[in-house]
Amino acid sequence: AIPALLVAVLAYLAGSVSAAILVCRAMGLQDPRTAGSGNPGATNVLRVGGKLPAILTLLGDALKGFLPVFITASLIDHPATIALTALAAFIGHLYPIFFNFEGGKGVATALGALLGIDLTVGALALLTWLAISLTFKRSSLAALVTFALVPVYLSFEGHQTFAVGFTMIGAFLYYTHRGNIQRLIAGTEPVIGKR
Ligand code: G3P
Repeated sequence: AIPALLVAVLAYLAGSVSAAILVCRAMGLQDPRTAGSGNPGATNVLRVGGKLPAILTLLGDALKGFLPVFITASLIDHPATIALTALAAFIGHLYPIFFNFEGGKGVATALGALLGIDLTVGALALLTWLAISLTFKRSSLAALVTFALVPVYLSFEGHQTFAVGFTMIGAFLYYTHRGNIQRLIAGTEPVIGKR
């Protein structure tokens, strides 16, 4: 129980480091929390700062999900602990201790964690996200469809524990996207890359 708690705390701290806020600060851009959708995430950084800062945000936020999971998985062969690590990094992004517990929506961090768990399922999730966002041009919709399917993908690969973990992550994602869901239904959700 001690190592599980320790990795969860470390993963939570890693998840609390907001790439969007730090990248925008370093590049002299507007704070993503007070511009565009107000969300500190790659989609909003693309909206307010353009491609390079958005890519750096995406990579940074994915890495803080990937690394804790990858490191834990290489040290401990225990799916529940690895799933807890993924959840903790994700929660850190949503409720960061370094930024008044006001974080982002968690898509990049969840994708990074998933890639750390299973490269095939992670790649499948990335492809799903890409296909939906290229077809419907809405980042939020792509995330919502992708994370509804991730537990199914994980089950098919025989990862039942991770399927449970990502069902919890998916529930949080629908909650963090509640404003986006309302806009999607109303037809007012902005096209990706547009203000
Ligand atoms: O990952 C966040 C994305 O799905 C939506 O971001 O800024 O459009 O609310 P945003």
